[in-house]
Amino acid sequence: MTTHSARPPKGTAFDAWRNWRDHEGAEGIVAAGILAANARNVQPWRFAVDADDEGGARLRLYADLSRRQGALDPFDRELYVGLGCALENMVLAARARGFAPHVELLPDDGDPAHAATVRLERGEATASELYDAIPYRHTNRGPFRPQPMPEPLLQEIAGLGRADLPAPALLWFSEEKDRARVAEHLTAATEAIIADEDQSLAGHRWFRKSDRDIERSPDGMTVDTQGMPPLLSALGKRLPSPSRRTADRFWLRQTREVHLPTAAAFGMVTVPDATSLRDRIQGGRLLQRIHLFATARGLAVGHLNMMTVRADRERQTGQPPRFDSVLAELVGDPDRQTLVTFRIGHPAQPAAAAPRRSVAAVLR
Ligand SMILES: Cc1cc2nc3c(=O)[nH]c(=O)nc-3n(C[C@H](O)[C@H](O)[C@H](O)COP(=O)(O)O)c2cc1C
Repeated sequence: MTTHSARPPKGTAFDAWRNWRDHEGAEGIVAAGILAANARNVQPWRFAVDADDEGGARLRLYADLSRRQGALDPFDRELYVGLGCALENMVLAARARGFAPHVELLPDDGDPAHAATVRLERGEATASELYDAIPYRHTNRGPFRPQPMPEPLLQEIAGLGRADLPAPALLWFSEEKDRARVAEHLTAATEAIIADEDQSLAGHRWFRKSDRDIERSPDGMTVDTQGMPPLLSALGKRLPSPSRRTADRFWLRQTREVHLPTAAAFGMVTVPDATSLRDRIQGGRLLQRIHLFATARGLAVGHLNMMTVRADRERQTGQPPRFDSVLAELVGDPDRQTLVTFRIGHPAQPAAAAPRRSVAAVLR
């Protein structure tokens, strides 16, 4: 496997990447779950494990609503997508470790925070390249090399969910003119987010600057994961914390000058109903598979959800639905809605690991 992934830094905030295979039984499945992609690294999950007498177990995955992103995710779209990402890692880990996982989504009508129950029965161990990619998958916010994505590869990625995730689908924007359209709207959405005081504040809340901050609170966004060359990252950590406005400007500049122009293609996961918790979880599962597949093949993924973030915010605040209209036009199918958007390509540099809370911290 070509991983293009740096080794996780020292420190307990990164132990989860190193010791995830050491956890046994159902806890080992949780250890895989917590390494999933999740918006702003808020890690919006809690888990419960009950062992049964036959060597199996019942695992419950819950939304942790105390870890909401506020104005950046006013209707919990991204929160449930992140739970779907975790669930996919858990299913892959269960199969690889000799369990047959039976997934029930949203099993409790009275409790939407109960996202899924996974019953684990003893079964055949099924290895997969996606499972093997779990500890190497990191969101890449650096530049990508100017190398196009071949059409057959895009088609292979689009087929990743088809067998057992029929609701979500993948839409590609790979031609230059289509990439330019998406890039223009993503820039406008980024500008709108940083011009919205509450959204800017909500993002800043999850910024962790020093190694001490990260050890104390192993979550959120760090300097090392911003995709800068290692020397600049090291310097960034020594300088005083940037003001919120400086950080916002940095993000806009990176978006405009690095993330958008170097993307080989943009992908959109679409679903029949982006407000449905079920569609969000299933879409998150597909997103995680895409990211793991990319990792296994030496490709990189960066998530760019500014358009949906703005569309949800406009709905929350009663503004005219500018980005809902943009998304509807990009999707071009009244029966499908954008769930999430990402860029893909060949990384120019490895991505750094983001911190994680431990299995013990998220088990209830
Ligand atoms: C639903 C969802 C939305 C995300 N949105 C963005 C985004 O707009 N910009 C970004 O840089 N990263 C985004 N991410 C990536 C997360 O920030 C990233 O997964 C998290 O920080 C953990 O890092 P890791 O993926 O390297 O483990 C998103 C991830 C998910 C699952």
